[in-house]
Amino acid sequence: MIHGGNIYDRSGQPLKGLRDFSTTVCGRVPGLAARLKAAQPRLAAYPQPYSQALAGCLAQAHGLPQGAVLATHGSSEGLALVSRALSGPVALEDPCFPEYARLLKRQGRCITRVVAERPGHRPALKHLLQAIPKAGSLWLANPSSPAGQVLPLPSLMALWAACQARQSCLVLDESLEAQALDPLPSLLGSAWQRPGLLVLRSITKGLGLPGLRLGLVTGHAGLLSLLAQQQDPWTVDSMTQALGPWLAQQSLAQAPCRRLALRQAKAGLLEQLLGLKALGYQPLGSCTGYFLLRLPQGCKASRLSQKLLEHGFLVRDCASFGDWGQGYLRLNPQSKASNRALARVLAQEAGA
Ligand SMILES: Cc1ncc(COP(=O)(O)O)c(C=O)c1O
Repeated sequence: MIHGGNIYDRSGQPLKGLRDFSTTVCGRVPGLAARLKAAQPRLAAYPQPYSQALAGCLAQAHGLPQGAVLATHGSSEGLALVSRALSGPVALEDPCFPEYARLLKRQGRCITRVVAERPGHRPALKHLLQAIPKAGSLWLANPSSPAGQVLPLPSLMALWAACQARQSCLVLDESLEAQALDPLPSLLGSAWQRPGLLVLRSITKGLGLPGLRLGLVTGHAGLLSLLAQQQDPWTVDSMTQALGPWLAQQSLAQAPCRRLALRQAKAGLLEQLLGLKALGYQPLGSCTGYFLLRLPQGCKASRLSQKLLEHGFLVRDCASFGDWGQGYLRLNPQSKASNRALARVLAQEAGA
């Protein structure tokens, strides 16, 4: 499995009764149905080219100056724009979101990987600093995926300063911000003042709405205009443009409740998994709702995830992140009943 969230059968229908632990989606947004209905007439017209009004609203919601934001079709489009706009060699932390390498390879970029020493950790700061290429870029996610680790502000500042010193860019992917259990150390608010820094966010992932594709990129004016040149005019559809200002506000307003709900759901799943320790299942610590689960010796993540699917559970096996990943699942906690049911099936599969 390369991405979580593929809940579909071959005909494109969502599989019935599936319990999805595989994504990094969280949160919810009350009052959506009425908003969708009110925005429906907008579908009869093309979206505003380049989502200029929406970009202005996103900037305002985040306290940024007008012109400091590009609105994108999910943060995925932002990453694609960055991969096209920035030239030169790239350093990637490893493991990381698999799309980075796919996008960069498509542009023929030379990639160096800075590998974490142990599963559940990210590469040491000194190794990241050493790996920054000359006149290229360093890409990293904060929180990280799949481990859910958060870099503190001084480390982010040190990385940005080192990128500056080498005429490189820091591409800081904050798409998983909504999953952070504490307010995220972020460079979003100051990126427009810092040359050589781009910060990306997903707006809809933390509202439980990944199907509605909205993200943003912010950065220094010169860099942002390079990205804008790569964007096609109608990538954010009319419905999303209509709902976007409200969604952005909701995303910010819901943050405290979302963090509380994430903590509770995670505690619930960890409690269920505690009973499986003797069978060899070991959750790793993370700063996010999602976390890595080490599997019993000899248990292969790709095989176990297939077995779990037969029982109606979708989980993210980590096999595609590297050899180490065959021993791990990434789990995003769900309802109490689903957490309990998953633990029961994990125990069964370990032969209890
Ligand atoms: C680290 C990271 N960045 C970006 C994305 C893409 O987010 P979006 O749904 O906003 O395109 C994901 C999706 O899972 C992700 O894990």
